[in-house]
Amino acid sequence: MSSGFSPTSDNGENNAGAGLYILLSFVIFAVIGAISCCFARKVRQGIVRELQTVVASATPNLTHSPNVVQIWEIDQPTMEKFIREMAEERPVRLTPQQLYCFTSNYSTPLGSGGFGSVYKGQFPNGVKIAVKVLKRNADRQAEEQFMAEVGTIGRTYHINLVRLYGFCYDQYMGALVFEYMENGSLDKYLFGKNQDIDWRKLHDVAIGTAKGLAYLHEECQQRIIHYDIKPANILLDANLSPKVGDFGLAKLCNRDITHMSLTGYRGTPGYSAPEFLFFNYPITHKCDVYSFGMVLFEIVGRKRNAGVTDSGNPDWLPQHVWDNYEKGKLEELTLMCGIEEDNKERANRMCEVALWCVQDSPDNRPPMSTVVRMLEGGVEIMPPPKPFLYLQSTAKRNAQQTSNSSDYSTSNEESGSVWYKDTPIMKKYEIQIASS
Ligand SMILES: Nc1ncnc2c1ncn2[C@@H]1O[C@H](COP(=O)(O)OP(=O)(O)O)[C@@H](O)[C@H]1O
Ligand SMILES: [Mg+2]
Repeated sequence: MSSGFSPTSDNGENNAGAGLYILLSFVIFAVIGAISCCFARKVRQGIVRELQTVVASATPNLTHSPNVVQIWEIDQPTMEKFIREMAEERPVRLTPQQLYCFTSNYSTPLGSGGFGSVYKGQFPNGVKIAVKVLKRNADRQAEEQFMAEVGTIGRTYHINLVRLYGFCYDQYMGALVFEYMENGSLDKYLFGKNQDIDWRKLHDVAIGTAKGLAYLHEECQQRIIHYDIKPANILLDANLSPKVGDFGLAKLCNRDITHMSLTGYRGTPGYSAPEFLFFNYPITHKCDVYSFGMVLFEIVGRKRNAGVTDSGNPDWLPQHVWDNYEKGKLEELTLMCGIEEDNKERANRMCEVALWCVQDSPDNRPPMSTVVRMLEGGVEIMPPPKPFLYLQSTAKRNAQQTSNSSDYSTSNEESGSVWYKDTPIMKKYEIQIASS
């Protein structure tokens, strides 16, 4: 029975129609796509031409250079990598979970100080790190230390300052991630059992530390005062090169502000400048110079400055150094400290520089760049005035202070002529040549 209804042939026609429709749509899209591509290329070429014209007019000496955009396209990956690396140079924020992994659950302690414990760790790329976990309590000291360290060392880059790679801060923990210093801190070598470092190297450590401090005081955009210079805060890398660490008490200050208004004592007894105790001078960056001088005495003596003699009397090396210097017997003292003949001259120089650094009046202390020059030699160090008058009775102290201050002003700070004579002193072999 024919109903006139033929589903098969009807379907065939429909399919053919649909196929034609799809084909047509495809062709139309392809044509539109091709036109768009041509148009986009034309627009791009137009932009490139315009860019070339702008670049050429902005940089006239490049007018005849090859296609700037081509160069840009070739250099782009390298430049992007460079820019990425530059961004990575800045300290990064890390999570407590990451630090937990990097330190293998804080399994290797490196040391501890007043503000926290330091643990060894490693980034996934193999770079070794030291993670300082800050002690948190109600007095907000950890927060202050966190801000002090990130705000100061996080902004600087110098071969003699420890690098801050990153930090972690959340409701549970505050931590700082530093480059790992293979040989720990200088105190270990000066006062510990392992004194396996020759004195010449210690002399280099002193110069490197002085350079780091000169950078903080004189070269940073904003002056940084460390306030806690001592052997425990001078770190040594695999080659025993020094880097100043522990910026927990450090402060940024404006160069034109001559002194800081501090509300309390800062530093470590034995290293901190007398102005902290006697309030007789303003607190300036020269308090770091004083502490550095104390470190120099400890390097000469290879022992802590303060001690007790066998008979129970107090024994303070800085005073012995002055007494011997005054009598012209510095060599006897350095010999007593076990410094060998070939380092005698360097040790004498170090004693004189130390005596300048610990002057009672901050103005009398040389700036750190001058300290570097004096330690390096090649200049004749002027005789330092008597230090430690603050330990004497107040009346006598005042009288002597007045006379000292008038003799030594800071007006010559730039030239350094207060502290040394610029005529280079002849070295030993030059004297031999001259006299032969
Ligand atoms: N980057 C480091 N690499 C190796 N050891 C370190 C590093 N930082 C600190 N230490 C060790 O931890 C000790 C305490 O660190 P420090 O930063 O001075 O902390 P605090 O603020 O508690 O005094 C140092 O004296 C040193 O022995
Ligand atoms: Mg410390």
